[in-house]
Amino acid sequence: MIYELSNPVTKTLLNHLRETQTDALRFRHIVQELSRLLTYEALKTETMEEQTITTWEGEKTFDFIKEKEIIFVTILRAGLPMIEAVTALLPNASSGFLAMKRDENTHQSVLYYDRIPDCKDKTVVIVDPMVATAGSLCDAISVIKSKSPKKIITLNLIGSPEGMDILEQKHPDIDTYIAQIDDKLNENMFIVPGLGDAGDRAYNTNE
Ligand code: PRP
Repeated sequence: MIYELSNPVTKTLLNHLRETQTDALRFRHIVQELSRLLTYEALKTETMEEQTITTWEGEKTFDFIKEKEIIFVTILRAGLPMIEAVTALLPNASSGFLAMKRDENTHQSVLYYDRIPDCKDKTVVIVDPMVATAGSLCDAISVIKSKSPKKIITLNLIGSPEGMDILEQKHPDIDTYIAQIDDKLNENMFIVPGLGDAGDRAYNTNE
């Protein structure tokens, strides 16, 4: 299922990402805020476990999310600010990294690095800001599926309707939480109105 966030705070933050005067530091900051909002939404039904902790009144038992059963996986490079934010929320979760590059001519994604912990019976949360053609995300999901996780969730900031359709067709069994689904893809497979290239915007890599 695809869940698009609708709250005004999310939309306001997302729309600031579109502004060209939003510099790289503020861009990464907003990406991180949005990543937190998406995480709260995506993990709202996650099971919790009792843990006994020492409090000011002595030993007491409270519920905590099972952080060690969660693996956050990002797709370099634009996903880096997202994984920083989500692993700060749940620091005992594990992290994995995939490096993919979209070929600018064929628009196909190419996997060139794969460093993922054991996913068996874990909840894997893939974080990547953009779903344009959905090629990168679909390939990332396929890589993770081959590692037998319990569940796959994706957190994304902005997507195209075309990409969302492909994602639903190819991977109907996963859940996607996204801050904004925009109008369309253009002839160069960029999201319109979009926000440009999230990796370039986050790190000032543009020419
Ligand atoms: C961007 C983005 C996604 C991908 C989306 O990465 O972070 O991974 O494009 O496009 P798609 O849905 O058509 O596959 P890019 O390949 O530009 O690399 P980057 O993270 O280094 O900017």
